[in-house]
Amino acid sequence: MAKKKHQAKGQSQGKSKGQPKGKSKGQPKGKSKGKPKGKSRDNAAAKPRVTMADLADRHELYEASVQSVEHEIEFLASSFKALTGRKALALREDFCGTAAAACAWVRRGRERSAVAVDIDHEVLGWGRAHHAARLKPKARDRLALVEGDVRTADTRASLAGLPGASNADGAADIAVAFNFSWWTFKTRAELVDYFRAVYAALAEDGVFMLDIYGGADAYVEQEEETEYSLFTYVWDQHSFDPVSARYRCYIHFRFPDGSEMPRAFSYDWRLWTLPELQELLLEAGFARTVVYWQGEDEDGEPSGDFAPVEQGENDPAWIVYVAALKPGASRGQ
Ligand SMILES: C[S@@+](CC[C@H](N)C(=O)[O-])C[C@H]1O[C@@H](n2cnc3c(N)ncnc32)[C@H](O)[C@@H]1O
Repeated sequence: MAKKKHQAKGQSQGKSKGQPKGKSKGQPKGKSKGKPKGKSRDNAAAKPRVTMADLADRHELYEASVQSVEHEIEFLASSFKALTGRKALALREDFCGTAAAACAWVRRGRERSAVAVDIDHEVLGWGRAHHAARLKPKARDRLALVEGDVRTADTRASLAGLPGASNADGAADIAVAFNFSWWTFKTRAELVDYFRAVYAALAEDGVFMLDIYGGADAYVEQEEETEYSLFTYVWDQHSFDPVSARYRCYIHFRFPDGSEMPRAFSYDWRLWTLPELQELLLEAGFARTVVYWQGEDEDGEPSGDFAPVEQGENDPAWIVYVAALKPGASRGQ
C-alpha cells in the first residue's frame, strides 16, 4: 500500500494505508518556501550554489514517500486468492508511473507476468531504466511496459506475447489502478468507458482493485508535511470546486538546505465518492464490489491491514481499497 498515499496519510493518521511511521527524528523541517539562500550581492558573480533540490530525483522521492509496492503486492495476491480461490498470475498495472508494482510482481514469482501501462513517456522510461533493467533477465521477459492510454491499450496482446503467459488469450487475472489515478477521469461517461476497458482485459474470474480516499479532510484546501530523513514530503490539496468536484493537488519536496522542488507532481482530478465508484463499476459490468477498510493497531493508529466491510466509519480521513469482481470471480467472501 502506499507508503504514504498521496494525500499524505498524514493529514490525519487515519488515512495511512500502511506504514510509514518511520519518519526520521530531528531533521530540519526544510520548510523554506523554496529559494536557495545565501547568494549575497558580494558574491553575486560567484557560481550558483547547487542545492539538494537540484540534485534530487523526483521519482526516487515519490517512491520513497508515496509507494510501498511490496506490501501492495502481498495484499493483491492474498485478496485475489480469498475472492476467487486461486492464485493470481497475470497482473495489469494501470497508471503505472515507474512500474514499480509490475516489476515487484514479476520478481516475486516465476509463474507471474505483468503488463504496465502509462501515457507518459518520461516516467515509463525512468521505470525501464531503474526497475525493469535491474530485474533478472527471466523476470524481465515476463514484463511488458506499454506507453498508452489505459482506455485503449491492448494489454491482452502484450500479456499473450510474454513467454510462459498464464493465459493464452492475454487476459489479466488482476488489474490495479492505485494512488487514485483513475480520478483523472472527470465524467461518468469517461470513467465507465475506462472501467469497461479494464473489464474486457480481465479473465472471466478477474478482479479489478482500486483505491479511493475521502472523509471531511479530503475537501479541505491545505498542505500536509511529512518528514523523512533527507527531505520533507508535502501533500498540497490546493483547490476543490464543489460545483464540479474538480480537485487540484500537488506534491512538493522540501530539503534541509532550504531548497524546494515545487509541484514535483501535479494532479487535476475529480474527487469521486465511494458510492459513485461502486455504482459505476457495476454499470461497467462488474458483478459486485468489496470494500476493504483499514484496521487499527494497539495504539489506535492505522495498522496497514485491510479487511472487507459492509459499513465504514465516519472518519475525517480514510483510505480504502475496492475490489470489483467479474461474474466468474465470486466465491462469496
Ligand atoms: C498518480 S500517478 C500513479 C503512479 C503509481 N501507479 C502509483 O501508484 O503511485 C498517475 C500516473 O497516471 C498516468 N496517466 C494519467 N492519465 C493516464 C491515462 N489516460 N492512461 C495511462 N496513464 C495515465 C500519469 O502519467 C501518471 O504516471
